[in-house]
Amino acid sequence: MGESVKELISTAEIDAKVKELALKIKADHPNGVYCIVVLTGAMIFFVDLMKALRALGVQVGFAPMKLSSYDGTESTGTINVDLDVTKVKVDGKWVLVVEDIVDSGFTANFVKKHLLDRGAASVRLVSLLDKPERRKTEVKIDYKGFTVPDKFIVGYGLDVEGRYRDLPSICYIE
Ligand code: IMP
Ligand code: MG
Repeated sequence: MGESVKELISTAEIDAKVKELALKIKADHPNGVYCIVVLTGAMIFFVDLMKALRALGVQVGFAPMKLSSYDGTESTGTINVDLDVTKVKVDGKWVLVVEDIVDSGFTANFVKKHLLDRGAASVRLVSLLDKPERRKTEVKIDYKGFTVPDKFIVGYGLDVEGRYRDLPSICYIE
């Protein structure tokens, strides 16, 4: 296919950013936080974030949700809920959605509304990456990691058709 993978953000930079985000989240949730982890891309980020929060004394509860909207490297705009949360998991809770990347913004806004419809008392969003050049709908990202250029990002959980999730750093495909 002739694609090449280039590093954009190193593992050391990721580690420092995760700790910085954990400190910000702790400031707003000193006792504990309940996370909705958007599978599959955010799972590596979430585990590191959870450990960083726990190290700061913040208890972390979580439940997964799986959404899909991509066909290859293009967002289709139609979002499928492949794995849902139950009402009992979010009812009355202040939840924190954990995302890998906000691109068009459709997924993040969909999941926020979905959780409010399921009875969550409040929904905040942490996203490791933000690709603002591709935004199609306005999204409030409460805790943001890195802003990335309009390139297809892989590694540290992010994939292209299932590949490259296992790369330890954040890379892009050229
Ligand atoms: P959005 O709905 O267009 O904002 O896209 C959100 C989802 O698409 C993210 O949670 C990712 O799973 C995936 N995605 C968007 N951009 C990229 C990328 O550059 N690399 C890998 N996955 C991406
Ligand atoms: Mg995602």
